[in-house]
Amino acid sequence: MPLDLSIIIPTFNESGNIKALIELLHNTIDKSITWEIIFVDDNSPDKTYQQVQKLSKDWNNVRVLRRVGRRGLSSAVIEGILSSSADYFLVMDGDLQHDEGIIPRMFASIKQDNLDLVIGSRFVGGGSTGELALNRVKVSRFATILSHRILKTKLTDPMSGFFMLSRAFFEQNVERLSAIGFKILLDLVASAKTPPKLIELPYQMRKRTEGESKLEPIVVWEYLLLLLDKSIGRFIPLRFMMFILVGLSGVLVHLVVLKGLLNFTDYSFLIAQSMATLVAMTNNYIFNNLFTYSDKRLTGFKFFKGLLSFYLACSIGFVINITLAEFLFKLDVAWYLSGLIGAVIGSIWNYGMTKYITWR
Ligand code: GDD
Ligand code: MN
Repeated sequence: MPLDLSIIIPTFNESGNIKALIELLHNTIDKSITWEIIFVDDNSPDKTYQQVQKLSKDWNNVRVLRRVGRRGLSSAVIEGILSSSADYFLVMDGDLQHDEGIIPRMFASIKQDNLDLVIGSRFVGGGSTGELALNRVKVSRFATILSHRILKTKLTDPMSGFFMLSRAFFEQNVERLSAIGFKILLDLVASAKTPPKLIELPYQMRKRTEGESKLEPIVVWEYLLLLLDKSIGRFIPLRFMMFILVGLSGVLVHLVVLKGLLNFTDYSFLIAQSMATLVAMTNNYIFNNLFTYSDKRLTGFKFFKGLLSFYLACSIGFVINITLAEFLFKLDVAWYLSGLIGAVIGSIWNYGMTKYITWR
């Protein structure tokens, strides 16, 4: 039987919620349609994926896509959709905050009116943010205002994580998605070639009772990246922009350390330049790991392995750097120019190498 609807639920540490959610969905969705639930779990420490596997023995329309070594709500949703053969998809959170009660109406209207999208909105008549903390509502409103810059279509709740879409609409646009961060709906609408045909249905957001929100500061950062990617990202690749920014911070660190060592110690220029390079390299590794590669961030043991490979990969750049700087300095080029040129040429090497070795 052809599949009508796939419900895509990204999860990270939601083991306390999924059983109730599966039951609610089965009580709500009409028996006359064929449908499935796909949990996309990023290898949750609380083993949400195991829980789903267990539950799927009782419900044969439930499965889990477990991703290892990855994080990201948007990319999880995209990969969940890609793994499905349904005509329509519903994206919803796994924490019971979204009101499954409106799903039948969403499905009826997307089909009848041949729509691209039906969006659950907290900000149309009858919708509400429930008991969401006031500062969260304010942040959400501010983010919405920012989003107008990249959206041709005005949405009341572009931050919504609760919406239905058609396969046709998804397939037309999947290759243009940025897939960065939390805001998959915004990404979809901003990436759409032609303005999507859509309606918004109100819903009242419920309070989270189990587990906790993953809306950490990094989510705000990734949101800004998404806005950047959807605006100037068409002209310059985002990672390259980030790399240049981090590189500039490294150059600054480099010069400060070099100057400090030359002024306050008896180290030779060669030693001072080498030490400044090491400090700058460590600085660059930390910031690139935090920001440039926030989606592939290395943590724990892998952080140190990554640091090691970063040092190793950069060793050629390091040799070029100090040889060049020393050479220039001996030619009576000023200390700062010698240091700068060495560092910049070294950085270009570092980018190419570490992109393929450290954050493969
Ligand atoms: N696979 C995966 N990977 N899932 C994730 C990740 C991740 O890195 N981060 C979060 N999730 C899952 C959570 O487990 C949850 O099911 C859902 O994504 C939403 O995460 P929450 O942490 O509950 O987000 P929120 O409640 O603060 O924000 C939600 O509601 C807002 C308002 O509608 C999100 O849907 C936002 O996108 C939305 O703006
Ligand atoms: Mn939530």
